[in-house]
Amino acid sequence: MTEPLQQREIASQIAKRRTFAIISHPDAGKTTLTEKLLLYSGQIGVAGMVRARKGGRATSSDWMKLEQERGISVSASAMQFPYKDAIINVLDTPGHQDFSEDTYRTLTAADSAVMVLDAGKGVEAQTRKLFAVCRMQRTPILTFINKMDLHGKEPLDLLQEVEDVLGILACPMNWPIGHGAEFRGVVYPESRQVMLFRRSEMRGAQKAEFVSMSLDEALHAGEITGEQHKQLAEELELLAAAGNPFSHEKFLQGEITPVFFGSALTNFGVEPFFDSFSSLAPPPHAYPADAPNGGTVEVDPVTSPFSAYVFKIQANMNPKHRDSMAYLRVCSGHFERDMVVRHHRSGKEIRLSRSYSLVAKDRSTVDEGYPGDIIGVINPGVFAIGDTVSVGGDFNYKPMPQFPPEIVAQIRPTDVLKHKQFDKGIDQLAHEGAVQILRSYRNPKDPPLVAAVGKLQFEVLQFRLKEEYGVTSAIDFLPYRHSVYVVGDVKALNLPMGSFVALDARDRTVLLLTAEWEKKYVREKNPDHQFPDFVR
Ligand code: G4P
Repeated sequence: MTEPLQQREIASQIAKRRTFAIISHPDAGKTTLTEKLLLYSGQIGVAGMVRARKGGRATSSDWMKLEQERGISVSASAMQFPYKDAIINVLDTPGHQDFSEDTYRTLTAADSAVMVLDAGKGVEAQTRKLFAVCRMQRTPILTFINKMDLHGKEPLDLLQEVEDVLGILACPMNWPIGHGAEFRGVVYPESRQVMLFRRSEMRGAQKAEFVSMSLDEALHAGEITGEQHKQLAEELELLAAAGNPFSHEKFLQGEITPVFFGSALTNFGVEPFFDSFSSLAPPPHAYPADAPNGGTVEVDPVTSPFSAYVFKIQANMNPKHRDSMAYLRVCSGHFERDMVVRHHRSGKEIRLSRSYSLVAKDRSTVDEGYPGDIIGVINPGVFAIGDTVSVGGDFNYKPMPQFPPEIVAQIRPTDVLKHKQFDKGIDQLAHEGAVQILRSYRNPKDPPLVAAVGKLQFEVLQFRLKEEYGVTSAIDFLPYRHSVYVVGDVKALNLPMGSFVALDARDRTVLLLTAEWEKKYVREKNPDHQFPDFVR
């Protein structure tokens, strides 16, 4: 138990924290919206810098070489900064070709998620996958429908699409006034107050001014046309009659998503969205963990001493030292730099002396932290994904979910004499959670397969094998692009032609498939088996 005085401080720090991730399909506007959050929180004076970085014009010197070469962010990173009264921890979930298991794992460290949809495209493939992970954890999700300044789908159709495709109730918290070049702002259905934005200089590089008034006043002031007023009045009536009423409780349970409209590029609707986010999104909560006696305990963030778990390991931040960084999500208590914690899996005591937080990719030393915070610590080679550390705790945070791989390959050292280092490297990197190792169910002696969610994981694997183990390697990708976990008797499985039965490192069955439709096929043909979306 922590001291009562300290508990009060911890409770007040927790109440301010909002730890969240953005889920979206590439190009929906995640980077732009994140940058606007930095603009509106005063972290940057002018927007446009993050995108410049994204294009490779600015890279930080101690980031991974691979990242510098490609000008992309290799793994998810976290940023902390104040926004009005809140302290924001935003976890970056990489999309594009850097989509990987880390993207999924990062979601486990988030207390809420913001789903950004492109109004012209609706719910896209990567959003669906990330949404499924939030769903599984019952993470509360807020939706921001972006790019309203372009002609897109009808707002009502977008809400319907969210409900039909994702199976979550959508509740519009505000409603767009016009769209495309005519997009003026948003109206609040209950109060019928409107927020009308003025275009800022330089494509939204600075905050957008707005005026606020009632819908009728907007008509009389000539801010909106009679036609727009009539249409909005009709739409609001329709929403009142047929829309889902908002319930904070259902939102916290992950059953309903509050929906906001806006344009991250022009800043229209961005500030009211951030304000609603900081009032609606939950602060850090108690985390479930496995108790030593086999049961589950809820670790109270305030009263329990410091504890955290590793959700991501990023290698070679500093190539000169070949160190890697483990990212800890603080779950309880007060973190102080230099504190000695116990690493539960090994039983070792570790001093967390080199601890960092990240703001827009710049590493800075962090001296203290509270539940919800993400802290990067130099990994002395002991951390693996999912590990628990604490001061005096006897529990283990729930194992990280393992997601079905989407890319499978055979990998071998190009120099046969280096087999030993190669095997050691593969073993250690798989153990750390960088990739998964699969064996053939039928021929377990066959060379193992390497599997991952994203192609980038293979690039990182090859890079690390070379940098850390001195082995160059060659990869042959196999045709399996889909997989499902199987629970049940493998011998009784009715399988599609060309599928491959594999076992993972913990002897769980993974069925490798070449086509998406085969997932449905195996489910239909094997009603007595179970096919969970992930395993722990
Ligand atoms: P991502 O991180 O989700 O991949 O998306 P990102 O923010 O990089 O945005 C993808 C593209 O969409 C960018 O255009 C960006 O400017 C544009 N965009 C983002 N939000 C809005 C919006 O509200 N309205 C409009 N019209 N466009 C938006 P780009 O052409 O790739 O880059 P740039 O030339 O604008 O820098």
